[in-house]
Amino acid sequence: MTQSLQEQYATDDNLQARIALHAAFSINPHWAEWLFEQEAPAPGARILDLGCGPATFWRAIKDRIDPSWFIPLADLTPGMVAAARRELGARAVYVVADAQDLPFPADSFDAVLANHMLYHVPDRPRAFAEISRVLVSGGTLHASTIGHGYLAELVALAPHMNAERYSESFGLETGPRQLEPFFTDIHVERFQDALAVTDVEPVLAYLRSSESYNGQDPSRARTTVQNAIARDGAFRVAKPLGVVSCRKA
Ligand SMILES: C[S@@+](CC[C@H](N)C(=O)[O-])C[C@H]1O[C@@H](n2cnc3c(N)ncnc32)[C@H](O)[C@@H]1O
Repeated sequence: MTQSLQEQYATDDNLQARIALHAAFSINPHWAEWLFEQEAPAPGARILDLGCGPATFWRAIKDRIDPSWFIPLADLTPGMVAAARRELGARAVYVVADAQDLPFPADSFDAVLANHMLYHVPDRPRAFAEISRVLVSGGTLHASTIGHGYLAELVALAPHMNAERYSESFGLETGPRQLEPFFTDIHVERFQDALAVTDVEPVLAYLRSSESYNGQDPSRARTTVQNAIARDGAFRVAKPLGVVSCRKA
């Protein structure tokens, strides 16, 4: 049985298994810095991070956080908000909140980040209306997400995996037209990356972390990855990802 979103993200354990694979084997380790450069906030900026997870993005750019920024980190689950708080402490403020019903007044933020989370939101038009409401006029939304074919070789290892479901919901190809009724200056930037995996265990941990994992036998996946490492030096996995950015008129 597939886990609910609340079950999958009750704590950061499942997400950390996925983050660990990317951290260890991405050939381009500069995702967070690249994402940060998309906005480069001014002193005093108010930046809302929606679906912040365990604040992995902010941890990577910790040294560049300007103390004058106001940074609420918001997530649907208390477990994720607690993990974010452990990571960033007094540098941010923490809010349990649903993107579809934001507990902030209108015109509160200069920028909203929605990193790899909009594909989870059931009523995205409602979330876009909320994001637009809390942004100032001219404020920006950066919604990072995956593209078609994300982790295709890894997904092919296990029938229970289905990354295309996410790129179909809100991906680099499918996101921009959904934003059109709400925002202007919509554009997509792609980040060049891939995985070159040299250890089978983190791959198996990734497969187990999926919300659709139900005790599936990992032996075929294990053999495929081990053979690729023995033959090619690494199990190579495509990783199309990037950010959809836009502005409130
Ligand atoms: C794939 S994780 C991404 C975490 C983080 N932004 C990152 O890029 O590492 C998705 C996060 O979105 C949160 N989330 C899902 N639906 C949400 C909603 N409707 N409102 C707020 N957060 C949500 C989940 O709890 C989870 O922490």
